[in-house]
Amino acid sequence: MSLLRWSKRPAHDVQARNPAVNVVRGLVARATTPLLPDDYLHLVNPLWSARELRGRVESVRKETPDSATVVIRPGWGFPRQYQPGQYVGIGLQVDGRWHWRSYSLTSVADTDDELISITVKANPSGFLSAHLVDGVEPGTVIRLAAPKGDFALPEPPPAKLLFVTAGSGVTPVMGMLRSLRLRGHDADIVHVHSAPGRDDVIFLDELEHLDRGNDRFRLDLQLTRTMGKIDLTRLHERVPDWAERECWACGPAQLLDDVERVWTEAGLREQLHVERFTIARTDRGGEGGTVTFRASGKTAEIDGATTLMEAGENLGIQVPFGCRMGICQTCVVPLAEGYVRDLRSGEEHREGERIQTCISTVSGECTLDL
Ligand SMILES: Cc1cc2nc3c(=O)[nH]c(=O)nc-3n(C[C@H](O)[C@H](O)[C@H](O)COP(=O)(O)OP(=O)(O)OC[C@H]3O[C@@H](n4cnc5c(N)ncnc54)[C@H](O)[C@@H]3O)c2cc1C
Ligand code: FES
Repeated sequence: MSLLRWSKRPAHDVQARNPAVNVVRGLVARATTPLLPDDYLHLVNPLWSARELRGRVESVRKETPDSATVVIRPGWGFPRQYQPGQYVGIGLQVDGRWHWRSYSLTSVADTDDELISITVKANPSGFLSAHLVDGVEPGTVIRLAAPKGDFALPEPPPAKLLFVTAGSGVTPVMGMLRSLRLRGHDADIVHVHSAPGRDDVIFLDELEHLDRGNDRFRLDLQLTRTMGKIDLTRLHERVPDWAERECWACGPAQLLDDVERVWTEAGLREQLHVERFTIARTDRGGEGGTVTFRASGKTAEIDGATTLMEAGENLGIQVPFGCRMGICQTCVVPLAEGYVRDLRSGEEHREGERIQTCISTVSGECTLDL
């Protein structure tokens, strides 16, 4: 084994963007063996870990009645560079278990400010988002996964942009708008945003302020309670030059399906970037059954809607992940034994095939080498 690989080996589970960081982590781990390095590091600072990225919640600021911005101070090893529009993984311990979700960064990299922020809309039938909006205390130490994602602004940005967002889909675009303003870009931007009413518009003041103070930015609000949903067949009426603009769209599945259809029919699919927050599941679901994590020696019984990733995380197993949406391929593993079902397509996979744990569930019995 080369010296570099030997140095990095103890920290190989940490998703660090800069490989040099894992060399330092690995060396710290080796220097403190046989005692656990995290025992020493934690004593000095709870944000230091040789094995994982951590952060501390600094503040939680309400944006609307059901959404809040969570400001986080990242600990050792968190990359200072990330692209506007990218997301982070957030791991929070609730009732003794770690729960992971992805959130778009609403903060801007490359500033003197070391803090990052995410903005979360509470999902009434969900688990973690409501806790982040209403229950997480400043001072709470959380786990982080390094920023990722292709839904990001290129540098330099295009001269003409169109943003189409709805609800919490405004968050990655807010990261982009803040970054554009900070870097002094004067791109020509139209932002079509939809929410039930004015009280529900996340970042309303900041968006309206941008709109008033800048003739290169136009905010076009669609308040669905009084105006109905965005009608994309009439997009040319509100944005006559929409076809000349590079578009970033984020929002509920129905809106994004419509956007993809309109852009594809116009032969402009390559000008469109889409970010989805939820998996489009088939109605079929899976059968459920027993999943065995062979390397960890653990087994779980799960229903046909629970993913293999969730099953592993519920048992405390570190399952590699990125988008948790079937897009990034970070979670791909070979299926060691048995059968699993893809929750998006309904397709069944068998032993030997490579599967995505974030969108697959067990179909009877299966074994993974995790
Ligand atoms: C790349 C990316 C970026 C994101 N950025 C943001 C952001 O900036 N802001 C934001 O608010 N959100 C964002 N999200 C969404 C976020 O990650 C969470 O999915 C969201 O906050 C809901 O989490 P939750 O724990 O409250 O809900 P969950 O507990 O995950 O549940 C979500 C929904 O799925 C249903 N569900 C859960 N488990 C099952 C099951 N077993 N069977 C059937 N249905 C089930 C629930 O009823 C609920 O409706 C992003 C997602 C991705 C992938
Ligand atoms: S975590 Fe991205 S594809 Fe599974």
